[in-house]
Amino acid sequence: MSSRVNTQVVLRAHPEGPPREGDFACVQTTVPRPADGQFLIRNLYLSLDAGFRQWMNEGAGDGYLPAMELNQPVMGLVLGEVVESQHPDYSPGDLVMGRTRWESFSLADGNDYMTKLAPDPAVPISHYLGVLGPTGLTAYFGMRDIGRPKPGETVLVSTAAGAVGSVAAQIARIHGSRVIGLTSSDDKCRWLVDDMGLDGAINYRSGEGIEAGLARLCGDGIDVYFDNVGGATLDAALAHLRIGARVVMCGALAGYNDTKPLPGPFNMFKIITQRALLQGFMVTDYVAEYPAAIDELAGWLKQGRLRGAEEVVEGIEQTGPAFCRMFAGGNRGKLVVRVGEPSRV
Ligand SMILES: NC(=O)c1ccc[n+]([C@@H]2O[C@H](COP(=O)([O-])OP(=O)(O)OC[C@H]3O[C@@H](n4cnc5c(N)ncnc54)[C@H](OP(=O)(O)O)[C@@H]3O)[C@@H](O)[C@H]2O)c1
Repeated sequence: MSSRVNTQVVLRAHPEGPPREGDFACVQTTVPRPADGQFLIRNLYLSLDAGFRQWMNEGAGDGYLPAMELNQPVMGLVLGEVVESQHPDYSPGDLVMGRTRWESFSLADGNDYMTKLAPDPAVPISHYLGVLGPTGLTAYFGMRDIGRPKPGETVLVSTAAGAVGSVAAQIARIHGSRVIGLTSSDDKCRWLVDDMGLDGAINYRSGEGIEAGLARLCGDGIDVYFDNVGGATLDAALAHLRIGARVVMCGALAGYNDTKPLPGPFNMFKIITQRALLQGFMVTDYVAEYPAAIDELAGWLKQGRLRGAEEVVEGIEQTGPAFCRMFAGGNRGKLVVRVGEPSRV
């Protein structure tokens, strides 16, 4: 094992603005051996998560996660197979998902939200990073505990064509709400309505603009806003809140490429007049509930009520470029990188 090569994607430069391909590089090292209490994972899929961009900024450590260091492998979520173990709870052949690094082999000790998987053979294994993984679980718990969409209500979702957003939007549809998505192109708007079953979509980059789009499709107000971006989009949504609205503070993408905080939002008084709830959450608070939530999501998937939109990129060398493409809005649903296949299929 120790003579095998471990390919790692390292952070060459702290991105300035949107990440660029040159901010990442592949290097090769030897595969490490697990020490007592550790196990070695052969990674099968790497997850590309927009949220990790914020910890690529110099000095960005916020107490939740540390800032990523230059020339070190990029921190990220992986799905892989245990191939060697010095840990009593993990054995070779176990499939696991958790936070390690963008590399072909990872050492782990069972922390970092490491979850053992018992994948359903009828479901692509990559879905356990997407619709049945941290992505889908984020949408699930955000909607279940904060959004609480009801039949007949209007739900607005930002980055609706992305990984978390596409699942959040579909969950609101499953609960009988009328769902409007925000995205950055007419093409993705069509996809959201025709393929993902949303009731409407707004291209926030079109000549119409987000304000007019919201007036057109959410003229009677918004009951739930699932916010993945913050900034001006959050402000526009606040202006349309109905009485008793819930705002799910899931992500703040509009600011991840900046080192200075964004100004605003300016429409906070709407929270008061509309008696609205605005609440943040971290999916990792729910680790104990993951198995039950995965079961419910998998049920919807198998009943055809939920689609796990994903794009699988081949080869670890493509990890950096694919991550950059995500920040140019180039993804539909979940982006994962295939690094290997499980030994037992
Ligand atoms: N709270 C939690 O526990 C938790 C857990 C996981 C993820 N999240 C959050 O969920 C959000 C979505 O993450 P994801 O991994 O699913 O990514 P994603 O939505 O699949 O991909 C990112 C999308 O964001 C949009 N975008 C890119 N750059 C942007 C910018 N500068 N301003 C506004 N929009 C931009 C693009 O969509 P368009 O082309 O449609 O604009 C892009 O497709 C992130 O904010 C992330 O932090 C939160």
